[in-house]
Amino acid sequence: MFLEILEKVLKGFERFCRVWTAHPLNVDGSVIVVLREKNRIILSLNILNHPTSPQSLSLPEFYKTDKCTMDTQDNQWQADPNHKPSKTSMWNHSANENGWVHAHNCIRGEIRDMDEAFHSIKTKKTNGLPSWAVEIIKEIWSEHEMHVRSHHENEDAKMTPFMKKRINLPEKLESDHKIVCDCIANMTQAVDKLKEGDFIDELQNLLALYEETMLPHLVEEEDVALPLLMAYFTPKEVARVVRSFTSTKSELGSFVHYQTVEGFRNKFMKQEGIPGFVWILLFEPGYNYFLEHVKKPLDVLKAGEEPAPKTMFWCCAA
Ligand SMILES: [Fe+2]
Ligand SMILES: [Fe+2]
Repeated sequence: MFLEILEKVLKGFERFCRVWTAHPLNVDGSVIVVLREKNRIILSLNILNHPTSPQSLSLPEFYKTDKCTMDTQDNQWQADPNHKPSKTSMWNHSANENGWVHAHNCIRGEIRDMDEAFHSIKTKKTNGLPSWAVEIIKEIWSEHEMHVRSHHENEDAKMTPFMKKRINLPEKLESDHKIVCDCIANMTQAVDKLKEGDFIDELQNLLALYEETMLPHLVEEEDVALPLLMAYFTPKEVARVVRSFTSTKSELGSFVHYQTVEGFRNKFMKQEGIPGFVWILLFEPGYNYFLEHVKKPLDVLKAGEEPAPKTMFWCCAA
């Protein structure tokens, strides 16, 4: 019955935007619906988790979203009677400013930028992809894939076992990784076989499917897991786990880039008490790496113009 009503609502939307998906993704019956208009996601709804209030996922607005309907005090989440959900007031920032959300924002940002770059190169190179564009796509995707794999590994191997000591986490949060990874594997396969003269349409479709799968997963972690984390653990306890994370250079750089250097250094580093030398030792090299291997290639793809060979620069410099 609910799905029938939803179908009617979506039909209404079709007049204004493209209805991208409305399909079951999981054995538990959760359904992801994503509405898009051009490159802009205007609504993403996980029916199982947001039965009454679809959350707008317009990316720039989403960064500012500060609403949490999660009832962290519900007994169903408590795994250890010795640890109650009483720590939220100890945090010096809202869930929306937590590093977990920033880490997700850079995944969202990279997906959005790839989406724009693919769209741009498609309109600029109508006879197929030139070889330089193929190389750039391979480089960008490889960095993104390593970034997301590293993000998942930190969650699966460190954060989730840590949280399970005190919290009954929904199994879906873990099982979602498998679905997301399948989408990533499909993208990797398509990128690997991409060659000069190919069209980018297949990659665009696979990227859209990946996006539709990944974005609701990120929202679910932020809506369910993060409020629980902040209720059951103190900032110091969480900081110890986060310090054990391993990250790729690109992941660190992306984390800075999508917050902006100023935002990261003036706000996030202060919020987390990160000493200044860590910027020099860790984040600045990561940021420079990200600019060289992700941001610059994305910009070249968006511009649709072949970059000057690096060797020319060195010849001229010499
Ligand atoms: Fe995750
Ligand atoms: Fe995550």
